Amino acid sequence: MSEPAAVLAGLGAHVPPRTVTNEELSRRMDTSDAWIVQRTGIRQRHWADPGVATSDLAVEAGHRALKSAGTAGPDDIGMVIVATATPDTQCPATAPDVAARLGLGTIAALDVSAGCSGFVYALATASAALVAGYAERVLVIGAETFRPFLDPADRSTAVIFGDGAGAVVLRRGTADEPGAIVSVDLGADGTLKELVGIPGNGSRHRSTDRPPDPADQYLFMHGKEVFVHAVRRMAQSSSAVLAQAGWSVGQVDHVVGHQANLRILHALAKQLGVDGERLVRHLDQVGNTSAASIPLALADAAAQGRFQAGDRLLLTAFGAGLTWGSVALTWPGIALA
Ligand code: ACO
Repeated sequence: MSEPAAVLAGLGAHVPPRTVTNEELSRRMDTSDAWIVQRTGIRQRHWADPGVATSDLAVEAGHRALKSAGTAGPDDIGMVIVATATPDTQCPATAPDVAARLGLGTIAALDVSAGCSGFVYALATASAALVAGYAERVLVIGAETFRPFLDPADRSTAVIFGDGAGAVVLRRGTADEPGAIVSVDLGADGTLKELVGIPGNGSRHRSTDRPPDPADQYLFMHGKEVFVHAVRRMAQSSSAVLAQAGWSVGQVDHVVGHQANLRILHALAKQLGVDGERLVRHLDQVGNTSAASIPLALADAAAQGRFQAGDRLLLTAFGAGLTWGSVALTWPGIALA
C-alpha cells in the first residue's frame, strides 16, 4: 500500500487585463526594452488597476482552480492557503476573505509569507496538512499585487515585478498516483534579510519614533547579491529535493523555477546540468510575480500542452527572507478551467 501524499487535482490562473510593455516603461523612466530584455528576459508584465488588491486576483485564480478540480461544492475544500508578500492588509490575513468570497464557508484559512518562495512553502504546508489528515482538499493560491509597492523612481525594481495569481487544489491521495508531491525541501537565512523587502508597516518600523518615510512603503532589492544567492540556493535545494525523491537530474522532464530573471534560470540549469529545453519560461509575459510565479508558469505550460500525465516536475523558488524551497512532483493530467 502506497504512502499517503498530496496530489495535484486542479489548476487555475488569473492576471489583470492591463499589460505594461517595456516600451511603455521606457517612456516613463530611464530604461529601454533592450536593457530589460537582455538583463532579465522580461518583455511585458500585467499591473492591476488602482483599487484592485491581491485578494481580488486570488479569488479569480482560486475560482478557476476549483473548477478545474471539479470540486462538487464548498464542503469539498477543508483549508485555503494564500501565499503572498503583498497581502490586502497587515492584519487580518488575506486568506479568510478569499475563502469567504469563494463561498467556502468557515474552513481554516491562512497566509504564508515567504516572498517569492511563498507558493512552494504553501504547497509544503498544504501537503503536510493533507498527509496529517487535517483536510481532504486544500486550495493553495499564490497571489501578488506589486504595482503599489514599486517606487516609480527605482528603475531596478519597477521594470521587474508584475501582478497576478495562480492556484492549485491538492487532495489527499497516495504517492504512486500521477500528480503526487514526492518530496519537499525548504530553507531560509534570516541573516540576509536586508537584501530584499518592504520595511514599512511592520512592528520594527512602527515601534520607533522615526517619522514615516514614503520610501519605506516601497520594495527595495539589492539585485546583484540576490542574484548570486538565488542561483546557489535554488541549485542546492533542487539537488536536495531530487535526492529525497530518488530521481536523477536526467529523469526530470520539466524544471519550473521561480520566474525572476532568465539569466538566473539559465545559470540554474547550467549548475544542475539540465538542458534549456526542459526549462519552463513564462517571465517574458508576466515579469516576476513573486508568489504567483510558479503557479502562473505551470498554468501557462499546461495550457500549451507541454506536460503529459506522469511527467516528472521540479519546482524551485527563491525569495525575500531569504527563503528558498523546492518540490518534486509528477503531473496528473488535469483539465484547465
Ligand atoms: N534600465 C536600465 N539600466 C538599469 C536598469 C533599468 N531598468 N536597472 C538598473 N540599471 C543599470 C544600473 O544602474 C547599473 O548601471 P551602472 O553600471 O552605471 O551602475 C547597471 O544597469 C547594472 O545594474 P545591476 O543592478 O548590476 O544589474 P543586474 O545585471 O544585476 O540586473 C536585476 C539587475 C535584473 C535586478 C538582477 O540583479 C536580478 O534579477 N536580481 C535577482 C532578483 C530576484 O531574484 N529577486 C527574487 C526575490 S524578490 C522577492 O522575494 C520579493
